[in-house]
Amino acid sequence: MIAKIRKLEYRLINGLFEKLDKKFIRRSLNIKNIPSAKFRRGGKASLIEWSHVIGIFQALIGLNLPKKGSEKTLILDIGCGTGLLALASEPHLIDNGQYIGIDVMEKDIAFCRKHYHKPYFKFIHHDLFNPTYSEHQRKEKTKWDIEQNSADLVTALSVWTHLNEEDAIFYFKEIDRVLKPGGKAIITFFLLDSDYYQRSYPLRKDQASRYHNTKQTKWIFGVNAYGSGNWFTTKWAKHAEDAIAITSEGLDKMLSGLNMDLITLYPGNWREASGLYFQDILVFQKKE
Ligand SMILES: C[S@@+](CC[C@H](N)C(=O)[O-])C[C@H]1O[C@@H](n2cnc3c(N)ncnc32)[C@H](O)[C@@H]1O
Repeated sequence: MIAKIRKLEYRLINGLFEKLDKKFIRRSLNIKNIPSAKFRRGGKASLIEWSHVIGIFQALIGLNLPKKGSEKTLILDIGCGTGLLALASEPHLIDNGQYIGIDVMEKDIAFCRKHYHKPYFKFIHHDLFNPTYSEHQRKEKTKWDIEQNSADLVTALSVWTHLNEEDAIFYFKEIDRVLKPGGKAIITFFLLDSDYYQRSYPLRKDQASRYHNTKQTKWIFGVNAYGSGNWFTTKWAKHAEDAIAITSEGLDKMLSGLNMDLITLYPGNWREASGLYFQDILVFQKKE
C-alpha cells in the first residue's frame, strides 16, 4: 500500500518536474523523448536513471558501430521494452540509420509505435512465451523477421538475463544469422565466471550494496533454472526468467558452432566491484 502511494506520488511530482527539466536540456537532445514514468521499464523507473543508462549505451553503441559508408546502418535491439536503447541509438541514426526494436510484449511495442515517430524507428512484436513477460503467447520459437547478414549492430539490454537455456541458445543463433560479417552485438548478462565464484560471491554480506539499491545478497544465483547445469536463477525468483545468470561454460555453449567471438567484457557492479553498468556488458563480433 505504501509502495503504491509512493509510486503515485512519484508519478505526479515527476510529471510536473520533468516538463520543466526537459526545457533545460542542453547537451543531450535525445533524452528529451524519455517516456513518462508510467512507461519507463527495464528495471529502471526514474528519469535520472534512464538518462544515466542511455548515456552509457549511447557511448558504447557509437564506439561499436562500423565507420559510416554510403549504406544504411541498421541497429537491431532485442527486447526493446519501451525504447531506452532507441533513445541511446538516436544520435547514430540521424544520417542514414535505422533502428528496429523487437519485443515479446505487445503493449510495449504498441507504446513504442505511438511514442517514437521518426522514420528511422521501427518496432516489431515477436509472438513468444516468456513466463515473466508474455505468459499467454506461443511456446514455439520462431526466427525474427529480419534478413540474414543485415544488421551492423545487435543490442539487448537486460534480456538474456530473462531467457532460459533453450531460448538463450536459439536466439543467440539468431544474432549470428542477422549480423553482417564484422558486425557486433552488445548484450548484457549476469556472467558466473571465475571472478564471480572466487571473489564476488564469497565476499557478499547481508548489507546494502555500494552500487545498487538492493542488498549485496540479492544477486546470488544458486538455483538451477529448469535443471540446467549452466543457467541459474535466484531463490526469490517466482519464475526462473525473473532473473537469469549463466556460467562461462554456458556462454561457450551458446557460442559453439557460431561465427562470433567475445571481444570485450565490461564487468558490472552487481558483482560488488566498480563496473560500467549494473549488469555485465559483453561485446561480440561476427567473423569477417
Ligand atoms: C528487463 S526488460 C528490458 C527492456 C529494455 N531493454 C530496457 O532496458 O529498458 C526485458 C525485456 O525483454 C523482453 N523479452 C523477454 N523475452 C524476450 C524474447 N525472447 N525476445 C524479445 N524480447 C524479450 C521483455 O518483454 C522485456 O521488454
